[in-house]
This record gives sequence, C-alpha cells and structure tokens, in this order.
Amino acid sequence: MIEVKNLTKQFGPITAIRDVSFHVKKGEILGFLGPNGAGKTTTIRILTGLFPATSGSAHVAGFDVFDESIEVRRRLGYLPENVPVYNEMPVTAYLKFAASIKGIAARNITKEVAKVLDQCGLTQVGNRIIANLSKGFRQRIGIAQAMLFDPQVLILDEPTIGLDPKQVTEIRKLIMGFAGEKTVILSSHILPEVSMMCGRVAIINNGHIVAVDTPERLAGRRASKVFLEIKGPEAEITSRLGTIPGVRSIYSEFDQETGIGRYTVETPEETKIRDSLSRSVVTAGWPLLEMRTIRPTLEDIFLRLVTRER
Ligand SMILES: Nc1ncnc2c1ncn2[C@@H]1O[C@H](COP(=O)(O)OP(=O)(O)O)[C@@H](O)[C@H]1O
Ligand SMILES: [Mg+2]
Repeated sequence: MIEVKNLTKQFGPITAIRDVSFHVKKGEILGFLGPNGAGKTTTIRILTGLFPATSGSAHVAGFDVFDESIEVRRRLGYLPENVPVYNEMPVTAYLKFAASIKGIAARNITKEVAKVLDQCGLTQVGNRIIANLSKGFRQRIGIAQAMLFDPQVLILDEPTIGLDPKQVTEIRKLIMGFAGEKTVILSSHILPEVSMMCGRVAIINNGHIVAVDTPERLAGRRASKVFLEIKGPEAEITSRLGTIPGVRSIYSEFDQETGIGRYTVETPEETKIRDSLSRSVVTAGWPLLEMRTIRPTLEDIFLRLVTRER
C-alpha cells in the first residue's frame, strides 16, 4: 500500500534523510521510530506531498506522491506534528470546514462529520469551542480531520506527543482500533509505544533506516544472555564455562556462605549454547540449580542501533 524507495531530502547543505526505503502492507500499522531530528517528519511530509524529495520515489496505493498527489491525497489522512486546528471554532464547525476544504460534497458533509465525531469519541463535545478543550481532545480532532473521506491510509506524526498518560492511553486505543481496516504509519520517539501498537517497526536514525522488522524479531536478533545458578567453586566454574565455544563474557557473583554462584553468560547465539552450558556444568559434578535465558529488551536493541554510529 505504501512503498518508499531510496528517498533522500536535502535542505540546502543539510541532508535530512538519506536513502530511506520501507514498505507498509495493507491493514498494517507501521511504527516509524527514531530520536528527535532523525528525519521522521521529513519523510512523512514527502509522503503527504508537502514537498518533493531530492531523489528516490514514494507511492501510496500505487500513485506517485508527487506526480499524482491529488490521487494520493484522496486516499490519505494526515495528522501533522502540530495539529492546525482553529481554536476559536466549535469542533463540529471546524470539521465541516475541513471537510469542505477536502472536497467532500456539501450534501455529504453533515453525515461524514457525524461519522468521524463518533469514531473519535467526540460526539459529546461537538458544540464546544476547540480552545476550551484539553490537548487530548484536540489531538482527537486532528485524527478526526484525518479520518474524513474515509482514507485507506493514515499517517500520524507523533500522535501522542504532549498528552498526559490517560490521554495517551485513549489515543493509542483509538489508533489501534484502525488495525486491519486502515494502513497506518505512526511516527514516535517512544519505543514502548511503537512496540505495543505496531506490527512492524522501522527505526530511523540520523536520516537513515537502521532496521525494519517486527518488535519481536528486532529484540530476538541480537546477543542474548543466559543466567545460571550453580553450586560449586567460582573460579573453576568460570574458567570451565569460558572454554565453551560461543561464550563471549561471564559475569559472576558468589555467595561464600551457601557456596552458590550466579553466572550471567553473554553469547551471540543463545539457542545453541544452552545444551553445552548445562552439560558442561552437570558432567563436572556441580549441581545446576537454575538456568534461564535473558532476552535483550527492544530498548537495548534500539539504543544499540541508535548509538552505534555516533
Ligand atoms: N525545512 C528545513 N530546513 C532545514 N533543515 C530541516 C528542515 N526540516 C527538517 N530539517 C532538518 O532535518 C533533520 C530531520 O528533521 P525531522 O524530519 O523534523 O526529524 P524528526 O521528525 O525525526 O524529529 C533535522 O536535522 C532537521 O533540523
Ligand atoms: Mg518530527
């Protein structure tokens, strides 16, 4: 549904994004994750036809975002980073205005606005002045505006930024309700948010994509650790474990009183090493009291990917 290929954008001497490629399948929620200044908004603005890329291409529903921007806009709802709502207007009046700008036929506007008010939980505040509503409600109004015309694709630039925790939960629930129905790109600099809401994550840093995968596979593809609790002499155990192929490092803590040691073994490939670890301990005659895998969190992976190139 969305196909981005080798996008590069220069602002004068600044390269905001470089060689950005990813795709989003129909009905998928893709998380676009990266620290501030990584290039998320720039990529999104190109996708929405706001300005052209310096090189590369992007298609939405098969249409080129720049050459066929009218067709793209017809299929795309966009929540910008700073929601441009007219504060002095009542909610319904603003959405009617937004609908007319989007080219919805006058006779359909009332019905269309009532639909998005309902979808975004705004019906009860329809007559309120926007300025008097909380930031969470204003964010909903922005999403409601993006939902007008029932677009196939929704692009949401940091939809939960500046909200309090309760509002964040509500907005997330609203967006997750679109899964399967709409194709969504959601940008965020908040890792747990993206891993919770999105089927796949594209991580961008310094203007280029450093990884695209499911949260599970991103977390699973790096080094893991195995934790062991063994009764026996610390120095001997450490040196024996150290000879096992695939062991990268060992961290240990020993309790003199009980004679029990706790060992954290770091390894590039966790699955293959558990056999040799347990066998080695047991054949040496040391009781193996506990063994478990410690998987890196997505947080670890993100930090590793994002700090690697500084
Ligand atoms: N209009 C612009 N002119 C010059 N530099 C820009 C412009 N827009 C963005 N940039 C730069 O491009 C980089 C990426 O910015 P942006 O896409 O806004 O990142 P993000 O949304 O991930 O925080 C930043 O270094 C930013 O300063
Ligand atoms: Mg941004």
